Amino acid sequence: MVVLNMQPPADMQLMKQATSILDIKDLTVSRSGKVVLSEVDLQISKGEFIGLVGPNGSGKSTLLLTILGVLKAQHGTIEVYGQKPMSRSILGKIGWVSQAAAVMPKSVRITVRELVQLGTLNSRNMFWRRRGAHREKVDSAMQMVGLEDLADHDISRLSGGQRQRAVIGRALASEAEFILLDEPLVGIDRESRNSLLMLLDKLCHDENKTILMVSHDLSAIRQTAHRMIYLEESIRFDGHTDEFPDLTSLAGLRGIEPVHGHKSHAPKTIVLEDSDVDDAFTEEE
Ligand SMILES: Nc1ncnc2c1ncn2[C@@H]1O[C@H](COP(=O)(O)OP(=O)(O)OP(=O)(O)O)[C@@H](O)[C@H]1O
Ligand SMILES: [Mg+2]
Repeated sequence: MVVLNMQPPADMQLMKQATSILDIKDLTVSRSGKVVLSEVDLQISKGEFIGLVGPNGSGKSTLLLTILGVLKAQHGTIEVYGQKPMSRSILGKIGWVSQAAAVMPKSVRITVRELVQLGTLNSRNMFWRRRGAHREKVDSAMQMVGLEDLADHDISRLSGGQRQRAVIGRALASEAEFILLDEPLVGIDRESRNSLLMLLDKLCHDENKTILMVSHDLSAIRQTAHRMIYLEESIRFDGHTDEFPDLTSLAGLRGIEPVHGHKSHAPKTIVLEDSDVDDAFTEEE
């Protein structure tokens, strides 16, 4: 199997000297007795926008849940803002946005403002209200995601893309600086997808947020992320987006041999059709 152990480019090395947000060393995580992640090393600096890709079941969500502290490491270390995951001092600094979070049952009657406001709740202020202090955070979060005009609309009346924005707004209202997104583009139309990606890019550039986003939509994620990570139990590629391997090389990274041999006239897509790489990624024209 070909494993690309890339040295991050020089400017990325410089970024690493900037504020470190995440530092993972030699991480192993098992689920139901099966090793899902092993030998994972990953460093992320403030302001980076990272795309995390890999086939189904390759451990992407597991990695996010481990960073959040929901799953525990069997081996290795994880530091988020220099602290162990779930440490009291970093509560609220990490936001998690999953695709499922935006799919709320129609029976849940809640306005955009109320949903975003939920982000300001934490264990310290759950039983009392300081309306004034929270209102400002909520207004600013709704503005950042471009939903201020829909503040009093019911969530059930919004499009999938708008709902996803509202969930991101909830994370921003908690003043999350490091935002983990698990498949936020699933089920939203192309136009909403593009504006969501622009919003995320803006959050990195203008608000200095740090973003780690899982997506199967390779073309969309490549348009936006500065850095790409290919995960399949361990990290097999970590580098600049423009250096991300083409799909044939990706098959090589996965140890998949082209079934039609290495004939020069063989179209690239044959590797795709005969492997399950295409199950893992959707590359739109
Ligand atoms: N709750 C669970 N209990 C036990 N094993 C699990 C659990 N959730 C996931 N797994 C297993 O862990 C492995 C990694 O799953 P994970 O959900 O992290 O993959 P993923 O890369 O996010 O996949 P997908 O692209 O389908 O979302 C898979 O083999 C999966 O079956
Ligand atoms: Mg997943």
